[in-house]
Amino acid sequence: MVHKKARSSKKKTTAKKVVKKAPAPARTVAPTAEPVTAEVETTTAVEQVEPAVAETAAAVEQPEPAVAETAAAVEQPEPAVVEEPAAAKPAAKTRTSTRKTTSTRKKPASAAKKPAPVVEEAAPVVEEVTPVVEETAPVVEEAAPVAEEAAPVVEEAAPVVEEAAPVVEEVAPVEEEPAPVEEETAPSVEEDVSPVVEEVKPMYEMSNLPRRSIAFIGSECHPFVKTGGLGDVMYALPRQLVKLNCDVRVILPRYACIPQKFQEKMEYRGEFYMDLGNTGRNYYVGIMEYVCDGVVYDFIDNQEFFSSGNPYTNLVDDIPKYCFFSKAALAALNYLNWIPDIVHCHDWQAGLVPVYLRTLFKDSPVGHARSILTIHNLRFQGIYNIPTIRYWSGLPNEVFQMGALKDGYQDANMLKGGIAYADRVTTVSGTYAGEIQTAEYGEHLEGHLRYHSGKLRGIVNGIDYDMWNPATDPALAENYELGNVLDHKMANKLALQKELGLEQDEGKFVIGLISRLTNQKGLDLVSSIIPMVLDGNTQVVVLGTGDREYEDTFRYYESTHRGTFCACIQYDEARAHRIYAGADALLVPSRFEPCGLTQLNAMHYGTLPIVRETGGLKDTVEPYNTFTGDGNGFTFDRYDAGLLLDAINRAKTLYFTNRYHWDEVVQRDMAKDVSWENSARQYKDLYLELTQW
Ligand code: ADP
Ligand code: GLC
Repeated sequence: MVHKKARSSKKKTTAKKVVKKAPAPARTVAPTAEPVTAEVETTTAVEQVEPAVAETAAAVEQPEPAVAETAAAVEQPEPAVVEEPAAAKPAAKTRTSTRKTTSTRKKPASAAKKPAPVVEEAAPVVEEVTPVVEETAPVVEEAAPVAEEAAPVVEEAAPVVEEAAPVVEEVAPVEEEPAPVEEETAPSVEEDVSPVVEEVKPMYEMSNLPRRSIAFIGSECHPFVKTGGLGDVMYALPRQLVKLNCDVRVILPRYACIPQKFQEKMEYRGEFYMDLGNTGRNYYVGIMEYVCDGVVYDFIDNQEFFSSGNPYTNLVDDIPKYCFFSKAALAALNYLNWIPDIVHCHDWQAGLVPVYLRTLFKDSPVGHARSILTIHNLRFQGIYNIPTIRYWSGLPNEVFQMGALKDGYQDANMLKGGIAYADRVTTVSGTYAGEIQTAEYGEHLEGHLRYHSGKLRGIVNGIDYDMWNPATDPALAENYELGNVLDHKMANKLALQKELGLEQDEGKFVIGLISRLTNQKGLDLVSSIIPMVLDGNTQVVVLGTGDREYEDTFRYYESTHRGTFCACIQYDEARAHRIYAGADALLVPSRFEPCGLTQLNAMHYGTLPIVRETGGLKDTVEPYNTFTGDGNGFTFDRYDAGLLLDAINRAKTLYFTNRYHWDEVVQRDMAKDVSWENSARQYKDLYLELTQW
């Protein structure tokens, strides 16, 4: 199904687009929308160039049951705020005005822009009624190879190339395997504004370790695009794996919001056209490459899907986007003729990858790879009605059964499907691995996860010590390390107070909170106790963006407590680093927390975490013990504002009455190993376990 085009080695900054003929389902149905903001709809209305009739009508019809109104839909991670957001907008260059002639030209986010699923499919599908025991066996092997369905017709009379047999040998798109290490020309991430990274030293002291190749597939990665911890992990874990003799490629969407300085450094590696689901269209897939510190980043280019200012918008757009991305990522591996031992996918956006791997790509070269799916956050699952996901994914009927994608009566769940089909499932802490098998944390997948518990592991995240290093961090007022933290941390506190307009006073206890402002993060607890926390000796700094209610609450507190409360409603990497360094304590009172990285960053910067005992917070923060003096921070168990306040007060008590012991904990936290070293080894072991030859 992959129709290869001539490749060239020159840099290519403008993607070629698309397709042959307009997708023209006889009648179209707007996929049932989750609430789309007025802004988006307005934009759409204005920009929708093609004759709007059919789509308008479709939008009105809305025959689908209002599916995905789930938490997943509502709590879509905050749009990334990337520095230099509009920097790269190659799409503009190639946009054309009518779908008739250029049906794949990008249109900004809108429900209307996507060819909607065919109406006939919208009716609750008969096959689906098969009464099924809640968890039937995962269908991997049983899935009939759906050759016919998979056979994408390459357009323009090109011979129909079967999906299962990408033409790997015929085309050798990649001249040479990118040297995994020390590319002299490799642009360094050091140029990023955000504090970053030193070139990894010539490694392979460990080259006696078995070598494995891994394709990471996910929706975000620092420093290109990051909305939260997933971006950190996609950056840091591959770098650590390289040191363990792994050959790692990270496959990402080439979002237009990736800063221009990175876009400019990407090298064009090739392009092909790929069919997608039942759209009847062939989609452009460009591959742009960037190599840094031994890790190869391959960006999937398609302006139709990736030209929005944010990686995530709403499910109406995101479902097609990540169906496309998951399939294109595997097709790109075949195209590049780089067949990994392991395909390691992340979160629901790559949840279909293991499903594709065992169905449409089963007989293609990449079909030999084993798959791992890492759940960073079970709340987001990629749920939509079956017809829509069937339409966009082109996956065979077998996968839409209860044991795999089917979820409830009429929905398909991309993460659930990934869990069923992956060879291993991991999540980002041991405690969370247990929690998600319970009703309280299972987000209704607890039964499914229990069924698959044999292949479920918890591996706690770490942080990248080059990116997070108070001794070299360029964002800080004064650098410091374990040996001199007690002499220099105060300077960072004073600088932070000055920067944020807080009263500059060494004696104040400064509490930081750096977070997406969503229901997950325990912010209702925080907001209900702020007046009690601000006792005259304490200052609070919040850095985050997210739900309006929290943003407004924190803005309100700033207005009522000027000089002691600061609400930075923004996404600012460098400021985050300064808060980690300048605060005395950092709050993480989450309702649930798969791992959490902010408490790790804080400890590494000598700032004591105050956390709820859940998920990775429980695994990484040992509660301070007043009697023995042991521990790393202050914790509370039940989700209760009083208990949070109590934990904060215990922290203050130690700080104000026993600074000697406080300082001991500061140093203990800085010395604590929160690096990726140990955890990356566990991933490597998992890769080896799956590829024993
Ligand atoms: P989650 O992935 O659930 O958002 P994590 O604790 O795993 O939570 O990761 C959050 C990451 O995002 C950390 O690296 C944190 O420093 C960063 N971060 C969160 N909010 C902001 C912000 N407003 N500005 C800068 N960095 C932020
Ligand atoms: C998710 C989780 C967070 C975790 C991060 C990286 O966003 O909410 O707890 O640290 O992913 O794995």
